[in-house]
Amino acid sequence: MGSLTVRNVSEDVKQRLRLRAAANGRSMEEEIRLLLAESSADAPIAATPDARIAKPAGTPAASRILLIISGGIAAYKSLDLIRRLRERGFSLRVVMTKAAQEFVTPMSVGAIAGEAAFTDLFDHASEFDVGHIRLARDNDLVVVAPATADLMAKMASGHADDLASAVLLATNRKILLAPAMNPAMWGHPATQRNLKRLIADGVVTVGPNAGEMAESGEAGRGRMAEPLEIVAAAQALLAPAPGPLAGKRIVITAGPTHEPIDPVRYIANRSSGKQGHAIARAAAAAGADVTLVTGPVTLPDPPGVKTVRVETARDMLRAVEAALPSDIGVFAAAVADWRVAEAGERKLKKDGSGPPKLSLTENPDILATVSKLKSKRPALVVGFAAETEQVIEHAKAKLKRKGCDWIVANDVSVQGGAMGGDDNAVHIISASGVESWPVQSKDDVAKSLVARIAAALTGQSK
Ligand code: CTP
Repeated sequence: MGSLTVRNVSEDVKQRLRLRAAANGRSMEEEIRLLLAESSADAPIAATPDARIAKPAGTPAASRILLIISGGIAAYKSLDLIRRLRERGFSLRVVMTKAAQEFVTPMSVGAIAGEAAFTDLFDHASEFDVGHIRLARDNDLVVVAPATADLMAKMASGHADDLASAVLLATNRKILLAPAMNPAMWGHPATQRNLKRLIADGVVTVGPNAGEMAESGEAGRGRMAEPLEIVAAAQALLAPAPGPLAGKRIVITAGPTHEPIDPVRYIANRSSGKQGHAIARAAAAAGADVTLVTGPVTLPDPPGVKTVRVETARDMLRAVEAALPSDIGVFAAAVADWRVAEAGERKLKKDGSGPPKLSLTENPDILATVSKLKSKRPALVVGFAAETEQVIEHAKAKLKRKGCDWIVANDVSVQGGAMGGDDNAVHIISASGVESWPVQSKDDVAKSLVARIAAALTGQSK
């Protein structure tokens, strides 16, 4: 099967795909394949309540809404709200209070929502089928539109004497209220007290707006927010929070390089690639667009990351250059400093004349090359220093020599244990000084480094 790429979609969609892939522990490519497979499969027959409210393929992870309609003249707008939400691919269930049914009928709501509205706390059919606790939990967001003064009062004091209030008390999901009432009722200290209480409880509101009321001659604040405003508020609550590196491109090198001596032998080192791969995972989880250029390692491709596998230092440099421009470069690879000037095309044989003389030549320095670029230099270039002695002194000298912004220095002596191990003790060396971090797992080093990078890019430190 050919390789899949994402073209002609907005950055926002790419970002959501990346987060989805990272959350599911899959590569971008696997995630896209699954989405395509899901969306081309026939829609399942709605055999059970769960199937009816299954998340539609390709929509954001959180996409099931429970809409509660309470009794106010604005209830007629709920029909348009239902239509707008369904157009956007949300699965819907609707609960109507007794008073709401005086304004719109469960039949018209059911016709637009695609399934019957729930109306009674003790409706045996629906209690068997779904039950108010399931109604309260089997969704990603509860929207109350319109929310009357009475329903807000019940919520504020924790009543549960009908289906709507029982569901609102039982839910552990976010609640979005679209209040709608007469301006005098909205301005009443009792309603304002209840509103404060509800906001303190974590409830989010949209509207009410100011303007003409449905009753003639009445104006002021109390009109329900327009359906599209409610949809936008719901989408904002359901969207995953963008990570601190959202919209940033980062290129990371990791692992050793293998420099061939002949077709079967090579020069290498003990790098496992664990630290660089952990940084790639942490950067992807923080929302970055990550290219990981890794030398030969036994680690799997990190989910949600574009991984380029290379063998030699020269291949690594080419892959890094292809990943530019980038906002950030992190060079964690243990690149071989030298390669055999002329690697044998055939296996070197013992011919009785003693060991062969290998003539070495220097490899390109990837970190120094990128640090010194005139155009396309990332705004932040981070190098690593593998040292066995005088760790900080040598790292400071490397910072200058290579021209990067930070050096993450680690002790790779046998006692240090960083090479191949799961833990790392590092020092962050920059123009502003030296920060020594305690021994921690390579994953934790990666997360702290990514957080520090995000802070530096937003100007909090460098
Ligand atoms: N580096 C690189 N390309 C090279 C050599 C090193 O990009 N050819 C990068 C490493 O990825 C690391 C930093 O330079 O970010 C320092 O690597 P290190 O091996 O500690 O330093 P060297 O430059 O090899 O210096 P020395 O071996 O003398 O300590």
